[in-house]
Amino acid sequence: MEPSSIISQMFRQLPKPVLWQRSKEPFWDDEHISKGMLEAHLNPDWDAASRKQSFIDSSVKWLTSLIPAGSKILDLGCGPGLYTRQLSAAGYDVTGMDYSRRSIAYAREQDSKTKYIYHNYLEMDEIEVYDVITLIYCDYAALIPEERKLLLSKVHRALKPNGLFIFDVFTEQTCRGKEEHTSWSYYDKGGFWSEQPHLCLDAEYYYENNTVKLDENIVITENDLRIYLIWNTLYTKETLLKEVTPFGFEMHSIYDDVCGSPYTGQVDTLCPVLRKC
Ligand SMILES: C[S@@+](CC[C@H](N)C(=O)[O-])C[C@H]1O[C@@H](n2cnc3c(N)ncnc32)[C@H](O)[C@@H]1O
Repeated sequence: MEPSSIISQMFRQLPKPVLWQRSKEPFWDDEHISKGMLEAHLNPDWDAASRKQSFIDSSVKWLTSLIPAGSKILDLGCGPGLYTRQLSAAGYDVTGMDYSRRSIAYAREQDSKTKYIYHNYLEMDEIEVYDVITLIYCDYAALIPEERKLLLSKVHRALKPNGLFIFDVFTEQTCRGKEEHTSWSYYDKGGFWSEQPHLCLDAEYYYENNTVKLDENIVITENDLRIYLIWNTLYTKETLLKEVTPFGFEMHSIYDDVCGSPYTGQVDTLCPVLRKC
């Protein structure tokens, strides 16, 4: 039998993960994966771990037009500091928080103005410290519902009165008409997921009328099998507002993206600016 048909048979045996099942494998802070991830962050022409440099530049330009001078900003999931470095250079008092050791180490090397903290943002405990908190590149929606609730309460607590929470999410447009599918690849010299030769079984699944997407990556090496589950909730302005308002936020303004493009609701992303009330 051809390897491809054996693998197709294997796929048919695999159950679709239960909604909101969490992977046990470290992802962002994994010693090997974080190496490839940092390369992806730093590629200025690739919309992978971070957006392209041209987008980041316009984003910072917009953020500086919105955020009053002298503000204290916290960037959650700051990665290697592509936004924080520019925001500090613009004169703000900036803190970046991330739990990739490799990204934080790189950020610190490049930028001594920003304060960088290696920490899980779901465990932050500050009270009324920041004027603005950002979370950029759709990471809010990669959290499962209990984590999103926890994050909203932590962000609310860490903001000063009337402070702003600025983030972006993917919209339902992203997955309209998309269907579940599977694929596989073999990396005989190692690759993104492992430095050892590995077989990667990839599946894209949808839940809740295509408003939740799961990317499942099963990575099989000679001695190991790891399953990575990456969730993404897809929003509309209405579903997002309904979710955040019980946590003490009101909509300050809304945009199509984190560059401040006027809101149309017709594109792949949505960027709310929430005010703590
Ligand atoms: C898609 S990247 C975006 C990085 C950065 N915001 C950018 O756009 O360049 C997501 C980042 O969030 C970090 N991250 C994910 N979950 C986190 C958590 N619970 N606490 C702290 N950082 C987290 C990852 O390590 C990664 O650097």
